Amino acid sequence: MSYFNRLLLQCRSGFEKEAAAEITDQCAAEGIYGYCTLNIGDGYLLFNIQQVDDAERAIQALDFHNLIFVRQWMVCGDLLSLEQGDRISQIQGSLDQFPVCSDLWAEYADTTDGRELATFSRKFSSALSQKLRQNKKLEKRTKRDSLRMFLFVLSGTEMYLGYAPLNNSAPWPQGIPRLKFPKSAPSRSTLKLEEAWHWFIPKQEWDRRLPFSGKAVDLGAAPGGWTWQLVQRSMFVTAVDNGPMNDDLMESGQVKHVQEDAYRYQPPEPVQLMVCDVVDKPVKTASMAVDWVKNGWCNEAIFNLKLPMKQRYQEVITCLNLIAEQFMQAGLAYELSAKHLYHDREEITCHLRLL
Ligand SMILES: C[S@@+](CC[C@H](N)C(=O)[O-])C[C@H]1O[C@@H](n2cnc3c(N)ncnc32)[C@H](O)[C@@H]1O
Repeated sequence: MSYFNRLLLQCRSGFEKEAAAEITDQCAAEGIYGYCTLNIGDGYLLFNIQQVDDAERAIQALDFHNLIFVRQWMVCGDLLSLEQGDRISQIQGSLDQFPVCSDLWAEYADTTDGRELATFSRKFSSALSQKLRQNKKLEKRTKRDSLRMFLFVLSGTEMYLGYAPLNNSAPWPQGIPRLKFPKSAPSRSTLKLEEAWHWFIPKQEWDRRLPFSGKAVDLGAAPGGWTWQLVQRSMFVTAVDNGPMNDDLMESGQVKHVQEDAYRYQPPEPVQLMVCDVVDKPVKTASMAVDWVKNGWCNEAIFNLKLPMKQRYQEVITCLNLIAEQFMQAGLAYELSAKHLYHDREEITCHLRLL
């Protein structure tokens, strides 16, 4: 019987039910069935799988990039409850079950309690890595078929040990990109757009898809955090908002401020990128983004869908279905991704473009 009988999934604290609904749906589509155990606010949940080997099948069959509410994942076995003292030796028995992995990341929930475990996790995983290298459980492999071992720490004596494919899991520990807030940016939202670029657009394509002197439209732009990012890439930006834009940003000479309704605005000529951070009904924003991409007003669009208080997962599915239907009716091939980014709160970010 396989040791690995569950998936451990991390998410933003408070979004455990959304992550649970999502993993249940996505696994069911692959014929993989299980049930979730979670506590709201924990920042992680478990998807317990009945069928032997199905946890390992799930982490291979599902595309991590397609999961919206899941920040990080791994297959794992039962909770390790260790005695104080030499805890590394107590883990030894579980390690026999593990495939050879290329490295080890120690993670913990992104909650107040979880973050207090940062120092312990780092020290413990450093000692464990040494042991794993001695046991030949950690060895460098080619990136394509490499696995990463994870230690998910709940306390000094309770933890899960698991693994996930390197190329099918989050590229950042805990799924959190460490972005530095730029002092001259007019709002903290600026990091949402930067993170969206990291997540949705491969870095080697930035110069082509976010080009020097390219044109962009920022809908709901004020005070200008997203516009600031576009200006940093030397793009020319039309900032649409009735509210005031940051003075320094306007002085860059790269921003034109248009005081109009974002949902009525149409660009006089096609632009490279449309971004939208307006707080309104998600279905309304999704329809507007479809119009922009379908009509060729922009090559690609990045937009936020503000989530309602209740039925958040259902609302997301409604919006994604609406977008799919519109493109199907138009007979156009498109690419759509959505993610609950680290810098997103009660919203998700979407990326849409024609293929
Ligand atoms: C969350 S803020 C945008 C923050 C901005 N992305 C930044 O980084 O600074 C939302 C903005 O949308 C604007 N807004 C709301 N409804 C709008 C509409 N229908 N048309 C244009 N702007 C709108 C608001 O005035 C507000 O400035």
